[in-house]
Amino acid sequence: MDRRGFANLSLKTGIVAAIAAAIPGIATLRGRAKTAGSKSPEPGDRLVFALGQNAGQPVTEGSFTQNEAVLAFPEGKSDNHDNLVLVCRLNPALLAAPTSLDGVVRGVVAYSAICTHLGCTVRFSEEPMDMAPFPHIHCPCHAALFDPHRGAVVLGGPAPRPLPQLPVRLNERGEVVADGNFAAPVGVVT
Ligand code: FES
Repeated sequence: MDRRGFANLSLKTGIVAAIAAAIPGIATLRGRAKTAGSKSPEPGDRLVFALGQNAGQPVTEGSFTQNEAVLAFPEGKSDNHDNLVLVCRLNPALLAAPTSLDGVVRGVVAYSAICTHLGCTVRFSEEPMDMAPFPHIHCPCHAALFDPHRGAVVLGGPAPRPLPQLPVRLNERGEVVADGNFAAPVGVVT
């Protein structure tokens, strides 16, 4: 199965959630201590798939279609779990502040995948629901909801602040790369 096929399958059927639940360190993040001394994203870091048979391979513009997302790490920096990001491809016309549009390319926008409540790994869903009748990000632990079109602001649940955005761009090979560090501290801030 190619990357696009994996993205379609995993996100439309919820297999990402099942895989995440099966992999230690992806699902059991609640209350996890931050990794001291590990590297943060830097401009030019390629984002690579965090899960599945494509793990470690670069995420490209063609890896997913609109209203899909994948979990990824900056290449070589997966030892710092705070680097886990949800790379979403959304309708560019719907993206608005507080999303930093300078850090978005062709509808591809990345946010920390670490919930700001207690640190669980968040998930993407294109299924509309009452509080989010559009593709959204949710946390399976205590039902926090975030709007990826508007800076991952909190729509509901106990999360105290948005998911920090990681600015991205495409390199000359069409690969999604970081264009800086996270816009705010990742995860639980005490
Ligand atoms: S850890 Fe995400 S809502 Fe509690």
